[in-house]
Amino acid sequence: MSKSDGRIIVLSGATRGLGCAMTEGFVGRGHTVLGCGRSVESVGELGRAHVAPHEFAALDVADDDAVRDWAAGLVERHGAPDLLINNAALMNHPAPLWEVDAGEIDALLRVNLGGTINLIRHFLPPMIAAGRGVVVNFSSAWGRSTAPEVAPYCMTKWGIEGLTQALASELPSGLAAVAVNPGIIATDMLRRCWGSDADVYDGPDTWAQSAVDFLLGLGTADNGRSRDVS
Ligand SMILES: NC(=O)c1ccc[n+]([C@@H]2O[C@H](COP(=O)([O-])OP(=O)(O)OC[C@H]3O[C@@H](n4cnc5c(N)ncnc54)[C@H](OP(=O)(O)O)[C@@H]3O)[C@@H](O)[C@H]2O)c1
Repeated sequence: MSKSDGRIIVLSGATRGLGCAMTEGFVGRGHTVLGCGRSVESVGELGRAHVAPHEFAALDVADDDAVRDWAAGLVERHGAPDLLINNAALMNHPAPLWEVDAGEIDALLRVNLGGTINLIRHFLPPMIAAGRGVVVNFSSAWGRSTAPEVAPYCMTKWGIEGLTQALASELPSGLAAVAVNPGIIATDMLRRCWGSDADVYDGPDTWAQSAVDFLLGLGTADNGRSRDVS
């Protein structure tokens, strides 16, 4: 498939950070973006900036019923996605593991892993029926290494790497599942870890200039691989 073909791209976490920058990049290259985030206000702004065929919905990826209904409507209107990007995620407030609140651990599990699985559960069957498509699960350097005070986040991103490799072994030919480490980018998430020190890194718009083409270039040869945005 050539990069200039209009692709149908489902993207979680489109409202801020990397997801918002990817949305701009994909739309600018002529692809259709079907995105979500929890913020009703940000979803409204995205919808005004990018009218049909693009669609944006306010929903929590941890809510399996909401994801099921969202996916059913999108697949009916657009067909199976060519690219499913599980980007939405949460970072814990930096702290030693024994000081992290049980509710925060639960939220990271439900969003970072449960949300990813919910989108796979509801978008992948039509992709399999169509016989094509790429699932990109956003990982992290902390999905392949560790650091103090981010154990809950590391747990979920190591989980992303594992579930992606296992999923890859289940997929029929024509499809791929890839774990992607985006790099280090100055977003709200990075500021939560490093405060204003995060701002020495490039912002999401600069990152997206090459990341969007990298993501569009992923294909069946990448099935089961752990890739870094380059
Ligand atoms: N920034 C980095 O340096 C870096 C490094 C490694 C990996 N990553 C990974 O890259 C991805 C994007 O990170 P980011 O830095 O762009 O994070 P971010 O700035 O915190 O943005 C996260 C996005 O996810 C959405 N989101 C969060 N919880 C959600 C939920 N329950 N349901 C639906 N949407 C939800 C947020 O929107 P709402 O608030 O509107 O829901 C927002 O659009 C994540 O998977 C992250 O782990 C980032």
